[in-house]
Amino acid sequence: MNATRRVHLRALAKLNLDLRVLGKRPDGYHELRTIFQTISLADSIEIAFTPGRKTAVGLADELAIPDNLVTRAAHLALDAMRTSGRVEMRLTKRIPMGAGLGGGSSDAASVLLALPVLAGRKLALPKLSELAQQLGSDVGFFLLGGTAVGIGRGTELFPLPDGPAQKALVVAPGVHVSTPQAYRDLSPRLTSESQQNKIFSFQSQVWGRGVELPRNDFEEAVFPQHPSLAAIKKRLMRAGASVALMTGSGSALFGLYQDRNRISVALQSLGACKAYPVSFVTRSRYRGMWWRALEEHSTGRTWPPQSRYAR
Ligand code: C5P
Repeated sequence: MNATRRVHLRALAKLNLDLRVLGKRPDGYHELRTIFQTISLADSIEIAFTPGRKTAVGLADELAIPDNLVTRAAHLALDAMRTSGRVEMRLTKRIPMGAGLGGGSSDAASVLLALPVLAGRKLALPKLSELAQQLGSDVGFFLLGGTAVGIGRGTELFPLPDGPAQKALVVAPGVHVSTPQAYRDLSPRLTSESQQNKIFSFQSQVWGRGVELPRNDFEEAVFPQHPSLAAIKKRLMRAGASVALMTGSGSALFGLYQDRNRISVALQSLGACKAYPVSFVTRSRYRGMWWRALEEHSTGRTWPPQSRYAR
């Protein structure tokens, strides 16, 4: 009988530290400039793989999320590896969903990284990136982690050096924002003149982070419809945030703080809103976390992690 190989992973959330939408592309997606950052807020995923002739993918997920990306990720990875077997997954959600925090994308990327290690096959980074892109625009970032610039659809990724440890407060107001609708609302405001300005201003943001205030273009499309989000941003600033922004197309917001006292002040001002004190997770910590989680099944400290069962 084939032995079952198991792993328990943390799938981290992301913030967009800056996000500019330049315009609509011929393929229907929008051209972006963004800075991604992994943070300590995380879902938990257990994956068990048993080699076998038949493929069966099962997911125990307490919220019964329809068409969950992790199931699609498992099928895509098995097909790409040209292998079969039983995949049983258990997902515990802690990252608020539909909030711009990338929870579903991170869960899916975790499956893409872990399954080849458990199955004893190699999927090279370009192949993993291709699969990630099929699952969603944010999935590829979680193959990299840390701080990174995303351009194009958000899937062309360029790592930035690890910055200093930063603390943030993430607020999930529970307001539902539809991402396609947010893009539609933003589109009429996108002119070719504003595109040039955005490119230069984004570039200076990346070169000299902290010099200019970052921005998220979705705020101007989403805040008018949900004034409570603008009010949260104001509260985060008033409590002493150096930056307060919405992440992705919302509705979560975050404030960056130099010390814990200001985070406590911000927490008190937010009333019943769900809020999570978090820290940035650098790329070296992100990889360290992965290597530890896969230690039993992988060889050395390579990226992406390689299987010790590979022939
Ligand atoms: O790629 P993902 O599934 O995350 O995208 C969700 C939706 O967001 C797309 O169907 C599209 O409407 C919009 N989108 C976009 N431009 C991007 C990313 C997403 O228009 N760069």
